[in-house]
Amino acid sequence: MNYDTQMLSSSEEDIDKAAELLKKGMVVGIPTETVYGLAADALNTEAVALIFKAKGRPQDNPLIVHIGELSDIYKYVTEVPENALKLADAFWPGPLTMVMPKKDIIPMVTSGGLDTVGIRFPVHPAAREIIKRSGCPLAAPSANLSGSPSPTTAMHVFKDMNGRIPAIVDGGDCAVGVESTVVSFDKDGKVRLLRPGFVSLEDIKSIVGDNNALCAKGVTEKISDGERVLSPGMKYKHYSPKANVTILCGGMDKFTGYVSAHNGEGVCSMIFDSDADGFPFEYITYGDTSEEQARRLFSVLRSIDDMGAVQVYARCPDQTGVGLAVYNRLLRAAGFEVVNL
Ligand code: TXA
Ligand code: MG
Repeated sequence: MNYDTQMLSSSEEDIDKAAELLKKGMVVGIPTETVYGLAADALNTEAVALIFKAKGRPQDNPLIVHIGELSDIYKYVTEVPENALKLADAFWPGPLTMVMPKKDIIPMVTSGGLDTVGIRFPVHPAAREIIKRSGCPLAAPSANLSGSPSPTTAMHVFKDMNGRIPAIVDGGDCAVGVESTVVSFDKDGKVRLLRPGFVSLEDIKSIVGDNNALCAKGVTEKISDGERVLSPGMKYKHYSPKANVTILCGGMDKFTGYVSAHNGEGVCSMIFDSDADGFPFEYITYGDTSEEQARRLFSVLRSIDDMGAVQVYARCPDQTGVGLAVYNRLLRAAGFEVVNL
């Protein structure tokens, strides 16, 4: 791995260049509406192996396969549950990944050794064009080095992947900012939320009914060592800035009191925009609405590293709607360290 990493634009010509590299079995950083992905031909085992290598990713953590047409699901999965069709109708193309039983054409290296595969039909125009022109389904994890925050700008990808991949397509800042919602289907057809995202549990329930969607264990609680998980990604420490992150749950007065008592060199507070006026300690803000927090979270976690902070105290986000995705990511960044004030 010693590439002279090329920054490509979203022009027709550059998208063709990216598609050519993908056809040849190379790895390319691509924009999506959620976060940037590290893409390669999902059906080419050698190309997929290069993704794991570039990212430093554990081999048992499966990759999501990105398709360019809804009907492509039938090429890669053996069985599409009725609720999957309803969700596809409501939320595809968009930030939703559905785990279904895989066909043999999906190599084991792509599915991390599982007999299921996560399929996503992205809405980002450049992502769709790249899939179309490459002519292959694209396996793509988030384009960060394993363990660091997901990239929401082409520059984030460049920081992590410079020299490790031949090219990155710049498609602007990601509109959603957190990775796609991941669901699987229980034997009885119920929808199981494995990873919250922009498509919220409430959104899913509005389509399949309140009693037909459940949250998997591990979304908001820590999985103990050796415990069986529905999604391998839940096991790994994720999204971690170098600083120690602690989530403080409670009102702003108590938050300020806690920080005052624990203040010192390298301490930084991660607060809402509306908290900032008159806040007496070092801080960075991450938005007010859940949508805004989702969009800014990973970028803020990366800035915290650039600031050289050693301890971060973060205000606890709301846990409804998209807020559950923000909380889920922040919990992992904090290694599940939460203080109730
Ligand atoms: O928004 C996204 O989903 C981004 C963009 C690039 O599309 N991709 C992404 O991929 O976040 P990644 O690899 O960073 O996260 C995929 C998650 C992991 O937690 C993985 O364990 C889970 O989805 N996953 C993938 N396939 C699965 C499967 N067959 N069964 C259970 N979980 C699966
Ligand atoms: Mg990831």
